[in-house]
Amino acid sequence: MPDTAHVAGGRDSVMGATARAGANVALVKYWGKRSSEKNLPAVGSISLTLSGLVATARVEVDSRGARFRSRGEPVDGVAGERMTGFLDWLAERLGVEARFCTDVAATFPVGAGLASSAAIHCAVAAAASSACGARVGLRELSRLARVGSGSAARSVYGGWVEWHRGTRDDGEDSDAEQLHSEDVWPVALLVAVAEEGKKDVPSRDAMEHVTATSPLFAGWVAAQDGDLEAMRRAIAARDLRAVGTIAEENCLRMHATCLAARPPVFYWTPATLAAIQRVRELRGSGCDAYFTIDAGPQVKVVCAPQDADAVAEGLATVPGISRVLRSGAGPGVEITDGAIPWR
Ligand code: PMV
Repeated sequence: MPDTAHVAGGRDSVMGATARAGANVALVKYWGKRSSEKNLPAVGSISLTLSGLVATARVEVDSRGARFRSRGEPVDGVAGERMTGFLDWLAERLGVEARFCTDVAATFPVGAGLASSAAIHCAVAAAASSACGARVGLRELSRLARVGSGSAARSVYGGWVEWHRGTRDDGEDSDAEQLHSEDVWPVALLVAVAEEGKKDVPSRDAMEHVTATSPLFAGWVAAQDGDLEAMRRAIAARDLRAVGTIAEENCLRMHATCLAARPPVFYWTPATLAAIQRVRELRGSGCDAYFTIDAGPQVKVVCAPQDADAVAEGLATVPGISRVLRSGAGPGVEITDGAIPWR
């Protein structure tokens, strides 16, 4: 369970709110930006919000102490600066003179390619809106969260979610919407952890580098609308085989842009490749299981719930895989302490 009590405890004298959001895993990926400043994506994306990988953020107004804390410990360096910049941007955007501070906690490793930034930035945007008494719709919240971390735009909603690329320079048409709620189609999502430490190239930096230097980037962008359309249809038809096939192809195409960058960006370790191979073997033995990989070495596997035990066992014995996290489709962002800023 998220450590809500820890981040919320004992500060009754300051205005604040707490929100909880799930990570999401992209099945058609966000990769590349059309504007870095506003985190406007070069392509649309489709994801599944997860039940098992959850972040909680307590945001307080004008409290003293470090602006960004993780389980009470100040976070410095680039991560601290980025979060402080996001908090200041949120205050300005929400029209308050507040100086926001946040304390976050996640139920899973942070900064390791597990989409922690999506869950954290979504929870921070929601808690900040609540803390200052703002009224924001969910789509607006999605646009706020997007500025903290692009993929956070999708964690606002539960289940199957599409984030639109949009065409406007101000980003007002680049937000997420729910395609189907988390309870319409039960699927399992397993994460084979290939590396417990922090990843070496943050997705933000890699995206900019790949956009600028990879000769394959244009091909990636050109193919995306076809994948989005096919994925929408596959999800609507509850066709796991089609969902998985598109997800695998889209993921490999994204990583191909990285390999073709100058210098190349490698996210995979030998364990990543071995886990991919194991998923293909499991499929050969009758399991409905498909992989996807984000900006890190972890292998995420979507499968039918009835195959989850066999797939988890199969992944756990892959050399170099330290553990397997289990999740399913989860709900959208929730305010756990404070006024609900949306209807
Ligand atoms: O939201 P960011 O800046 O952490 O980028 C996420 C990028 C990928 O995880 C690789 C793909 C995605 O759509 O989530």
